[in-house]
Amino acid sequence: MYDPFEALAQVCRPQGLWLHIDGAFGGSALLSRQYRHLLKGCEQADSFAWNAHKMMGVPLTASVVLFRQKGMLRKHLSEKAEYLYQGEDDYNPGEYSLQCGRRNDALKVWAAWKYYGDEGYEARVNRQFALSHYAARQVEADPALELVQAPECLNVCFAVKGHSAKELCRELDEAGLLKVGYGRFGKREFIRMVCIDPDLEESDLDHVFAWCGRWPLWPECHPPAWTARLAPDFFQMQAAFYYNQGAAYHVGLVLQGGLVF
Ligand SMILES: Cc1ncc(COP(=O)(O)O)c(C=O)c1O
Repeated sequence: MYDPFEALAQVCRPQGLWLHIDGAFGGSALLSRQYRHLLKGCEQADSFAWNAHKMMGVPLTASVVLFRQKGMLRKHLSEKAEYLYQGEDDYNPGEYSLQCGRRNDALKVWAAWKYYGDEGYEARVNRQFALSHYAARQVEADPALELVQAPECLNVCFAVKGHSAKELCRELDEAGLLKVGYGRFGKREFIRMVCIDPDLEESDLDHVFAWCGRWPLWPECHPPAWTARLAPDFFQMQAAFYYNQGAAYHVGLVLQGGLVF
């Protein structure tokens, strides 16, 4: 869900309150002309956090925090260690980060953006949204399932009627079929599927719903009957749903699927 940033800014500004937006996950919608309206008003924030290792698929870690006012990070984090920092320049990230020694994460973001380009990233975000909308439609069409929350971003929260989501996720994992997480809101428990992998096909999602909605009655879903047929999909999905924050893991597991089968 996206917060109403314009309304929040109107409350914060007169009171002198700091407005920070955690766009770690959903902030990447800004890369799509179709979906950036979800963040309307975000430009009024004092600071904005964003993880390129989520929707943008940059390998962990690649986190960005932006401040409206230049110099905030140096003001609050610089340690004035003369033996380390000699002279004021913008090129020593040790002065404006919690760590002193650190990896050059910015290079990964720059290289990935160069590779995909604005249009490539826009297409990626649009595909992620399209998959989550497809998933929501499939849930609504299946009488065994219930859509708990229509996806405003990529989270598709659904329940399998008559099943505990936590138990179902555990059983499907133990059966080697699917790794997907669950969530709770109040007393409500649901499967929380995040359609973050743009390489998924609609048919992959169909398998997920077949497994969830017919488990444990769907005989075909028991290994080994399905493994030879679905192995590549399966590994791709495991990677997509379980390691949904690391493109590197994704590639690793897809390769593993190729080697095993
Ligand atoms: C909205 C939001 N903020 C922050 C985080 C934490 O991300 P990380 O620890 O990778 O920076 C997450 C993780 O999914 C998230 O969804």
